[in-house]
Amino acid sequence: MMESLSSTLLDIASNSVRACAKNIGITFVDSFRQDLVSLEIKDDGKGMDEEMIQKVQDPFFTTRTTRRIGLGIPFFKEMAEQCEGTFVLESKVNVGTRIKASMKKSHWDVPPRGDMGDAIVLAICMDESIHFHFDYISDEKTFCFDSLEIREILGDVSIAEAEISSWLKAYINESIQ
Ligand SMILES: Nc1ncnc2c1ncn2[C@@H]1O[C@H](COP(=O)(O)OP(=O)(O)OP(=O)(O)O)[C@@H](O)[C@H]1O
Ligand SMILES: [Mg+2]
Repeated sequence: MMESLSSTLLDIASNSVRACAKNIGITFVDSFRQDLVSLEIKDDGKGMDEEMIQKVQDPFFTTRTTRRIGLGIPFFKEMAEQCEGTFVLESKVNVGTRIKASMKKSHWDVPPRGDMGDAIVLAICMDESIHFHFDYISDEKTFCFDSLEIREILGDVSIAEAEISSWLKAYINESIQ
């Protein structure tokens, strides 16, 4: 299976959801000028201690009981390193976590974007009470999407409703083209 930036994003954001984050911020930079593609996920979830920060970068470690190995973080790290990039994992217990992978855009191994709109909407639908903020920065434009804005418009209606989620996916994808 071909990995994409969006599937990786969904993986890392679902860690934030499982860590009971109330706020999740995603920043996606895609710039020819800077020769840079980066994905950053920040949360205010339960965080990790020093030992855990080391362990989770090992592909054979997970705290999940339903599956034996966790690959989300090691994969994210490997993706960055394969593309002459950098990987940052900062975390503090009861404060939150910041994970960022930066890659050289011109590198052969930068994965395709995949369906970013889909990944973001799926992440939001994992727990609609979480506040999501998404920032996109390219050479031509910046775009930001905040789940609070749509929540205000929708009231009690779920984003997971088929017409709403498909509209939102399309809206995000058009905005980051
Ligand atoms: N944002 C986060 N906040 C707190 N703990 C985290 C966070 N992200 C990851 N972790 C911890 O690190 C572990 C490893 O994460 P990773 O995504 O690599 O694997 P996994 O989530 O366990 O399994 P998989 O992603 O393959 O389903 C998690 O099980 C969790 O305990
Ligand atoms: Mg994971």
